[in-house]
Amino acid sequence: MTTETLQHVALFDKCKSFTKARELQAVGLYPYYRPITHSEDTVVVIEHDRLEVELAQFFGKEACLVFSTGYQANLGVVSGLVGRGDLVFLDKLDHASIVDGAKMSYGETIRFNHGDLAGLERKLQRVPGGTGLMIIVDGVYSMEGDIADVPALLKIAQKYGAALVLDDAHAVGVLGPRGDGTAAHFGLTDDVDLIVGTFSKSLASIGGFAAASESVIHFLKHNSRPMIFTAALPPSNTAGVLAALHLLQPPWATTSGRARRRSCRSSSDRSRRRFSSGGSCSRRACSPTPSCRPRCRRRTAGSARA
Ligand SMILES: Cc1ncc(COP(=O)(O)O)c(C=O)c1O
Repeated sequence: MTTETLQHVALFDKCKSFTKARELQAVGLYPYYRPITHSEDTVVVIEHDRLEVELAQFFGKEACLVFSTGYQANLGVVSGLVGRGDLVFLDKLDHASIVDGAKMSYGETIRFNHGDLAGLERKLQRVPGGTGLMIIVDGVYSMEGDIADVPALLKIAQKYGAALVLDDAHAVGVLGPRGDGTAAHFGLTDDVDLIVGTFSKSLASIGGFAAASESVIHFLKHNSRPMIFTAALPPSNTAGVLAALHLLQPPWATTSGRARRRSCRSSSDRSRRRFSSGGSCSRRACSPTPSCRPRCRRRTAGSARA
């Protein structure tokens, strides 16, 4: 670990003190949900719990919560955890779902220039101690192709007692030794507080997830409106995601998973080289996502970023 000071993460105090549901569970009054059984249907195969357990294992976290889309996962994590009096720090190029989650939360949003960690730190220095803080960034920026500097972000997060959240939509399946994302790519899985992702990219389905400590996931299960007040993922999608997740891992795909990631990497490097002759490729782009902008001075009508 590269950090100087390891501070308490005030944002998670609410998760630790949220005991109501556990008390009801302990006296058998509240099961959280009741699984459908054979007596209610002819064939019952619900893989939802299994998917959450396997995702938690895959991402090296204690627990996981599945959402109906990746968009809702970000909405649910940010609005669920950032409450009144808390602050959420967003990179200006964060995905729209993070921006919308911040708008939906009762906390205050502070944005910093893309990748400007000195700027982020200056903003954090002005915050009174004990404030609940979240820093949330994309692991891989979809439009720029660069990878978040997780070691430096973590150093700052830990110095100021902020929770660090990565949206790994574009990293899952392609970065990390097992395709297990940006935190794993840097060997910092244990230190990153939450990993959020989508099933709509390399897992070839629809849905999203958040992986974190058990207390944070338990809190989100009871406080994340984009998860509670909408329908769950259909079992067919859940099964599809499980199958895709298995293809990334042994014994299903020890070498072929690695070979596929290598091949993805070399085609994106090739594309980047080729595009750079006709446009300008981001200098910092080093992820499997090649990002190139055509050399065209005129703005197109629809060129907008969320
Ligand atoms: C970085 C990022 N986060 C979240 C999402 C939302 O994922 P979903 O399509 O599952 O809603 C996307 C989708 O494009 C994305 O690129």
